Amino acid sequence: MTKMKAVVIGGTHGIGLAIAESMTKRGAEVLVTGRNERNLESAAPLVAHALRSDLADMADVRALGPAVKESLGEVDHVFVNAGIAEGGPFESVTEESYDRQFAVNTKGVLFSTQQLIPLIRRGGSIVFTTSVADSGGTAGMSVYAASKAAVWSLAQVLAAELLPRGIRVNAVQPGFIDTPTAGVVGFTPEERAAFKEAGDLATPMRRHGTSEEVAEAAVFLALEATYTTGVKLPVDGGIGQGLTVLTDGS
Ligand SMILES: NC(=O)c1ccc[n+]([C@@H]2O[C@H](COP(=O)([O-])OP(=O)(O)OC[C@H]3O[C@@H](n4cnc5c(N)ncnc54)[C@H](OP(=O)(O)O)[C@@H]3O)[C@@H](O)[C@H]2O)c1
Repeated sequence: MTKMKAVVIGGTHGIGLAIAESMTKRGAEVLVTGRNERNLESAAPLVAHALRSDLADMADVRALGPAVKESLGEVDHVFVNAGIAEGGPFESVTEESYDRQFAVNTKGVLFSTQQLIPLIRRGGSIVFTTSVADSGGTAGMSVYAASKAAVWSLAQVLAAELLPRGIRVNAVQPGFIDTPTAGVVGFTPEERAAFKEAGDLATPMRRHGTSEEVAEAAVFLALEATYTTGVKLPVDGGIGQGLTVLTDGS
């Protein structure tokens, strides 16, 4: 039997690394990508392959398909997880911030996925990581929200386009998740603590989720949900579900 193979784009820490570790535990040969050398070095012992590939650099993106083919050959599951967020009120959004977020979250995600699709075997899948911010209106996250809405839109189109090839395409939609960056670039420790407290308060379950909780949902979509394509699975402690919670959620 051929060994299951998986790629995690943005798999060096946080949710992506948890996906990579879960897939490795299930017997897959896993390749993770990331940009930061130190993060790649710390992830390398935990996975079969760690590849430096900057989503914001089209030369790297164009080299991704050949590099993955050389390491893994064909693949079964691709998790397109990388993303960066920069917050702030709409009036303060700059062109540079827009370009940085769309370069990674949208352009890099789209063209990296395009590189890997020819390598995916029939019966395989793609799982994108969007965000609870991709719809519904999260204040202070305009550019990030728009970039993630584009990811979900892309996922739906690919679900339709790849159906004839027997490839399922789904997404996980995390709420507030406790990861090394909390998904947001450049927080001071104080800002991070305030963001965490606000996230806990806003979430019906009154806590952050863990990387592992998101990873298990992503792995479920890849491995178990064999009659499911074109869906977005919220992993958000109820924050995106319009719940009315009258207790403290404990
Ligand atoms: N944490 C949350 O609360 C939350 C909520 C909703 C959605 N999300 C989404 O979930 C995903 C993972 O979030 P996380 O909190 O686990 O983030 P994280 O800990 O910051 O990890 C992000 C991963 O993406 C990689 N990455 C970032 N920029 C990259 C680039 N230019 N090229 C290649 N790889 C790059 C990072 O690698 P390097 O750092 O090594 O470059 C890392 O492996 C993201 O798409 C995020 O938007 C997170």
